[in-house]
Amino acid sequence: MKTLLIVFHSLTGGTRQMVEAAVAGALTEPAVRVRLLPAGDATGDDVLAADGYIFATPENLASMAGRMKDFFDRTYYPALERINGRPYAMLICAGSDGENAARQIARIATGWRLRAVADPLIVCTRAQTPEAILAPKAIARDDLARCEELGAALAAGMAAGIF
Ligand SMILES: Cc1cc2nc3c(=O)[nH]c(=O)nc-3n(C[C@H](O)[C@H](O)[C@H](O)COP(=O)(O)O)c2cc1C
Repeated sequence: MKTLLIVFHSLTGGTRQMVEAAVAGALTEPAVRVRLLPAGDATGDDVLAADGYIFATPENLASMAGRMKDFFDRTYYPALERINGRPYAMLICAGSDGENAARQIARIATGWRLRAVADPLIVCTRAQTPEAILAPKAIARDDLARCEELGAALAAGMAAGIF
C-alpha cells in the first residue's frame, strides 16, 4: 500500500476545495492511502513516510502561504536525500497570478529531487478588492474536475509503479 501525502493551507477555502477534489480523485485508486494534513501539522516524519505528494497553497503576497513555507522550512533538511525520485504535484489557488508560488515550490521540490508528474495546477479566483479577497471562495466545477483528475492520475501512477 502506497501513501499519498497532501499538505495544504487555505485561508478562504479555495485551496481547501481544490484539495478535497484531489482527494476524491485519489480515493478512486484503492491501492493508495491518502493522508491529508494541514501545513502546520505536517512533520518531516510525515514526509519520509509518504511515497508521493501534493503540495497545495494559496499565493499570498507573490509567495506561497507563510504556513506552507514554514512546513518546508521545518521538513526540508530532515527529508533531504531521503525522498529522491518520489512523485509530486502542486495545486495553487490565486487571485490573478500564482506563478511565483508555483516557482518557489518547484525550486524546493528540485532540491528534494522530487519528480513533477504534472504542470502546476493554478486556479485564479479573480478576487481583486479587499472584500472579495477576504470572502469565502467557490471554485468552479471545471477547475475542481481538473484537481480531481490530477489526484486520480497521481494515485493511479503510484499504484501502477509508473512514478
Ligand atoms: C494577504 C493576501 C495576499 C495575496 N496575494 C496574492 C498574490 O500575490 N497573487 C495572487 O494571485 N493572489 C493573491 N491573493 C489572493 C489569494 O491568492 C486568493 O484569494 C486565493 O483564492 C486564496 O486561496 P484560499 O481561498 O485557499 O485562501 C492574496 C490574498 C491575501 C489574503
